[in-house]
Amino acid sequence: MKLRLRGSAMAGALLLLSATAHSQSTAQTVAPWAYPINTPGAPPPPAATDDGSAKHVPGSSQAFTLPQIRDLFSPPDWHPDDHPAMPDIVGHGRRPAVRACGYCHLPNGQGRPENSGLAGLPAAYIVQQMADYKNGLRKSSEPRMGPPAAMLAIGKSANDAEVKAAAEYFASLKPKPWIRVLESGTVPKTRVAGGMLVPAEPVGMEPIGQRIIEMPEDLERTELRDSASGFVAYVPIGSIQKGEALVTTGGDDKTLRCSICHGADLKGLAAVPSIAGRSPSYIVRQLYDMQNGARNGPWTQLMKEAVAKLTTEDMVAIAAYLASRTP
Ligand code: HEC
Ligand code: HEC
Repeated sequence: MKLRLRGSAMAGALLLLSATAHSQSTAQTVAPWAYPINTPGAPPPPAATDDGSAKHVPGSSQAFTLPQIRDLFSPPDWHPDDHPAMPDIVGHGRRPAVRACGYCHLPNGQGRPENSGLAGLPAAYIVQQMADYKNGLRKSSEPRMGPPAAMLAIGKSANDAEVKAAAEYFASLKPKPWIRVLESGTVPKTRVAGGMLVPAEPVGMEPIGQRIIEMPEDLERTELRDSASGFVAYVPIGSIQKGEALVTTGGDDKTLRCSICHGADLKGLAAVPSIAGRSPSYIVRQLYDMQNGARNGPWTQLMKEAVAKLTTEDMVAIAAYLASRTP
């Protein structure tokens, strides 16, 4: 009798477990504002519709049609004067599997919230990250988020010569201020489009909570892939100062002083990357990915102690402070 009871209790527990596993596979468990997933069937961003006409952006004499702008193997270069000539892999990639690096990271390497700014990162660091993608040591905690999944595939397919050319190119660029950080109690309501947060329609406001809401300054220019139109990041009130304390003091054994490895100005040291002035939603994703092991390359081991005890609130504060620094 006793045994049978225990057996059915066990079956119940198993049922519960499988129910949990099921709900985890459908509901998003990682912060949805940091890992935006396109809603299936949702409309694309309200960018200019394709009427076949040539598009323009401020400060550029170039003109491109929408199909040209969306060409994964020849993305638009609106401002060819703000960067050196791109190597072929950055400007065109290699069909079928290696999309042009400049499509997502932009020709000037400034990047977008759903990917990463590469301008000025050490070449050796870029090479190491590409090896980590290739070897399956760098993944995303949210495999359903499109852009990181695309990067994983590109990392698997890019060859050594392509990686070297791209690394040298992006390392030679000087990062520009790109993200305006604003502390605010309320934020525009958002929806996900193209792997990124954009203002919802109808327009409305909501409390920020413990989130960072990063979106284009000018959605239409971002949709036209204008590499001169940056982003605004709303962060919780008080988060910049809280982040500064964690970054500069380690916060009473919570973490390590970041300057030890990332340099006094946080702009990188030898092969350790800059963390100043970078996309805060990207920074939160990386801290979280390193904490839970989705990102676990040989150099990631140096970050383990710094991330081990961080809460989501700490990550938000750290990212808010880092993004507010000049790159
Ligand atoms: C489809 C869009 C896309 C294309 C094309 C693309 N990337 Fe990426 N890349 C991403 C995304 C998204 C991430 C962030 C992935 C993550 O969270 O690990 C990323 C991250 C990276 C990183 C890590 C940056 C860091 O700060 O650690 C490097 C290096 C990189 N990409 C290099 C390249 C190179 C080189 C190419 C061209 C061969 C390329 N990427 C093409 C989307 C792209
Ligand atoms: C002991 C050295 C060390 C310390 C201390 C350290 N880091 Fe790092 N950090 C690294 C290394 C090395 C990497 C590259 C990791 C990799 O290749 O996966 C890195 C990577 C990162 C990245 C990912 C950057 C990118 O482009 O993807 C972030 C974000 C970061 N660190 C933030 C911090 C913060 C915030 C602190 C302080 C709270 C800190 N680090 C302290 C060594 C350190």
